[in-house]
Amino acid sequence: MRTLIANGTIVTADGSTEADVLVDGETIAQIGADLAGTGVTADETIDASGRGIIPGAIDVHTHMELPFGGTFAKDTFETGTRAAAFGGTTTIVDFAVQSKGQALRTGLDAWHAKAEGNAVVDYGFHMIMSDVTDDTLAEMDQLVAEGVPDFKLFTAYPGVFYSPDDHIFRAMQQTAKNGGLIMMHAENGPSIDVVAAQLVAEGKTDPYYHGVARSPIFEGEATNRVIRLAEAAGVPVYIVHLSVVDALDAVRDARDRGVQAFAETCPQYLFLSLDDLGNGFEGSKFVCSPPLREQNPNWAELWTGLRRNDLQVVSTDHCPFDFHGQKELGRGDFRKIPNGLPGVEDRVDLLHDGGVAAGTISRERWVEIISTAPAKLFGMYPRKGAVAVGADADLVVYDPNRTRTISAASHHMDVDYSCYEGRQVRGASDVVLSRGSVVVRDGAFMGRKGHGQFLRRGTAEYARLA
Ligand code: URP
Ligand code: ZN
Ligand code: ZN
Repeated sequence: MRTLIANGTIVTADGSTEADVLVDGETIAQIGADLAGTGVTADETIDASGRGIIPGAIDVHTHMELPFGGTFAKDTFETGTRAAAFGGTTTIVDFAVQSKGQALRTGLDAWHAKAEGNAVVDYGFHMIMSDVTDDTLAEMDQLVAEGVPDFKLFTAYPGVFYSPDDHIFRAMQQTAKNGGLIMMHAENGPSIDVVAAQLVAEGKTDPYYHGVARSPIFEGEATNRVIRLAEAAGVPVYIVHLSVVDALDAVRDARDRGVQAFAETCPQYLFLSLDDLGNGFEGSKFVCSPPLREQNPNWAELWTGLRRNDLQVVSTDHCPFDFHGQKELGRGDFRKIPNGLPGVEDRVDLLHDGGVAAGTISRERWVEIISTAPAKLFGMYPRKGAVAVGADADLVVYDPNRTRTISAASHHMDVDYSCYEGRQVRGASDVVLSRGSVVVRDGAFMGRKGHGQFLRRGTAEYARLA
């Protein structure tokens, strides 16, 4: 099957150009001006007039079916990747979970079983490590060889995913040898638990106090600490879901020292705030960790961080729980509210609207943040994250002027609310291709469960991103 995408503007991290793209089978075969005029033929032509042709977006932080807070994140690999595709995301990297006492292999096999035959677009895995032992350290090398080269460790969630500093340091030393990457959830979990217990004892049990308990200082301290540990181990480190200036300062300072510290933020930290956690139990819809922060100065500072490349990536941390029946587990005690927000469908448009349309970042930087930088950092480039001959034909025909209103009534994520209910965004995906197949066209799903394949990823290319 040959598909010609004609008359559009190719927008990549490196620049924009008026040119056509010929897709042959699963990959990009040719790029050039007026390909039809030069005799190129195709089975189908997609007219991209007035629109951008961008590399499919990549979300390197999702949690499909994550067991957490006494329940499971609601999207499956089928529903979650389908929603991703509607939003222009053609690759996700999800977190397989090693539970305490388990081998990494057991957790990884479980995630392969959840995803295989179910995903609509391509997927990879990182590994959550909850138990660092001699055996699991040795297993890390094998996972890197199998295309699962990143490991998330936590200074938060004592008793669940938490690792003490010596475990984190040992895992970092292992990636110094095997080329993998440590991703850190950086909040001081033990101290947060002390404050949370004190608040509950004072009768402060509403969702709002989830935000109060998790002080920015706790995120700043842990971010600085794990970066220093990575420096001592002599390895790069990637901070996930960075939410606040205190943590951004730690990353900035490290990068100014020449340390290979990388970080992502998420749409919820750019568009939502601590105020959303108020309003009684409705605030539970916005409970995630780190928590939503004060708007000032955090939103503006995070955007500055994105402009200056102190932050390289925006991912979603998609971890959806229904309000009814799931978030409600925490009525009367905010500590029991499952942590996580839905978002895999809306990232691309929110960033376009709040970034490009608002004049805060260029469209090329937008593509870099949502696709190319994650591809480079997580070993997928140039197969993914590029519009280039030989790359996978993961492409989006993107209308920068179409507006749409975000709503749970129309979204495709399997969750009963939206954090952005009623918000109008400018910019939307018209046609989405995954490895050459149209999966979404003009709001209709054309894809297939099982089309999505496991991506064996290589190790990161830091030099280009440092
Ligand atoms: O609240 C969050 N972030 N839930 C998902 C788990 C994690 O820490 O990423
Ligand atoms: Zn986390
Ligand atoms: Zn997460």
